[in-house]
Amino acid sequence: MSLRQMNYSALRPASSPHLPLPPLHSTAPSRNAVTENIAIEGHNVSYAITTNQGKFVPILKNCSLRIPSGQLWMLLGPNGCGKSTLLKILAGLLKPTDGFVYVTKPKSYVFQNPDHQVVLPTVEADVAFGLGKVNLTRDEIKSRVARALDAVGMLEYLKRPVQTLSGGQKQRVAIAGALAEACKVLLLDELTTFLDENDQMGVINAVKDSLESSKDVTALWVTHRLEELEYADGAVYMEDGRVVMHGDPSSIMGFISSKQSSYIDQINS
Ligand SMILES: Nc1ncnc2c1ncn2[C@@H]1O[C@H](COP(=O)(O)OP(=O)(O)O)[C@@H](O)[C@H]1O
Ligand SMILES: [Mg+2]
Repeated sequence: MSLRQMNYSALRPASSPHLPLPPLHSTAPSRNAVTENIAIEGHNVSYAITTNQGKFVPILKNCSLRIPSGQLWMLLGPNGCGKSTLLKILAGLLKPTDGFVYVTKPKSYVFQNPDHQVVLPTVEADVAFGLGKVNLTRDEIKSRVARALDAVGMLEYLKRPVQTLSGGQKQRVAIAGALAEACKVLLLDELTTFLDENDQMGVINAVKDSLESSKDVTALWVTHRLEELEYADGAVYMEDGRVVMHGDPSSIMGFISSKQSSYIDQINS
């Protein structure tokens, strides 16, 4: 079975051995010479909610991760395992019940649905929107917007109305908005969910290219699509509210494949 065809629902979190987290350093090759610059760190992060009936429901359990600066990492795992909750905690949108979080600033969280993010009529105005907070001349704004759109391959769309763009193009404009604000960390939640394959590749490549051109921008990309792992410098694999594995993409791919085949052996025995 190819990894492309793998289905997380066939994996059984309850029976999975919880592998200890490797020492908190990346095993992934670094694009930068300096690997010790950490852009994102979570240490024993837990998050729980209390229902209206007063029941305590743990959602994240002692999650630890460490992501070096300048890299593209993926956060993977089956639906409902806690990826979005962890990402929102890293973005500062939710407060952890326990544990410690560090994320280099400025940071930006990009939504899953592009229509929840892009707000202004033209691409240019949209990307310039966040720059209103900073004291810049018109020329500086123009040049930052152009550079950011160029990084995501959308410069030729500068004057276009946003509503004429495809979903993937809107996501790329949202990423350009974060780049124009000089964000050092991009927290990207399942950006390719609503996209066709073409648009999906466009968004992943835009993130890759912008990391290549800036060197010190770090991205954490949440996905449930295993095939996206091939674009990553490193990955974090979660199940049932826990970080099960953390490291280089090929080890994570191997781990998921071996779980899949042991599950198939079990149901065939
Ligand atoms: N505010 C909330 N109230 C109740 N349950 C929640 C809340 N937020 C998340 N959950 C539950 O926590 C689990 C993890 O959710 P989520 O982080 O969205 O997972 P993922 O992004 O991996 O699909 C799911 O079972 C979800 O139903
Ligand atoms: Mg989610």
